[in-house]
Amino acid sequence: MKNIAVFASGNGSNAENIIRYFSQNKQFGIHVSFVITNRKQAGVINKAKALGVSSFVFSNAEIENPERLIFFFKENNIDLLVLAGFLRPIPVELLKLYPNKVINIHPSLLPNYGGKGMYGFKIHEAVLANNEKETGITIHYVIEEYDKGEIIFQTKCSISENETVETLATKIYQLEQKHFPETIVKVMAKL
Ligand code: GRF
Repeated sequence: MKNIAVFASGNGSNAENIIRYFSQNKQFGIHVSFVITNRKQAGVINKAKALGVSSFVFSNAEIENPERLIFFFKENNIDLLVLAGFLRPIPVELLKLYPNKVINIHPSLLPNYGGKGMYGFKIHEAVLANNEKETGITIHYVIEEYDKGEIIFQTKCSISENETVETLATKIYQLEQKHFPETIVKVMAKL
């Protein structure tokens, strides 16, 4: 059995999907041990709880100086850290402890529309403002610089003439739900 810790700051639709996927597909031998969040009110907490997974709130300071987090991960034999809408940087100590074992999902075709400040609807707004004909999702390894790590997986969707931020968000959501768990399986197979 391999163990995942999911990091999420917000709504948690990806975290929920990942938890459900691996509890329904036990043949992969992958288990979501818990969710780490930096926000007490994060929607992810109730979503995970409904699926029987605990969330632990760590302050931003505890994430920046991650001794407690590292102890917690070692105690629980965590193999992979999965960022799903986690809006804080991952400190270098954690990245060193988990080389090529921290992955993130980003709702654009990186390197386009990435970097600090590019998150949520802001990305889709910028994509539409630039009259892009396509966008998509990227799953990548995490390095110190935001959204710059090696790309593991990308897939595109087209942008229609009358696209809105909301319709685009729905297309992106569907791509994330389909591809994130499958990509985690592939990353885990290489560990
Ligand atoms: C997703 O679009 C993901 O790509 C990005 O943050 C969003 C998180 O959404 N990194 P949710 O919290 O999983 O609903």
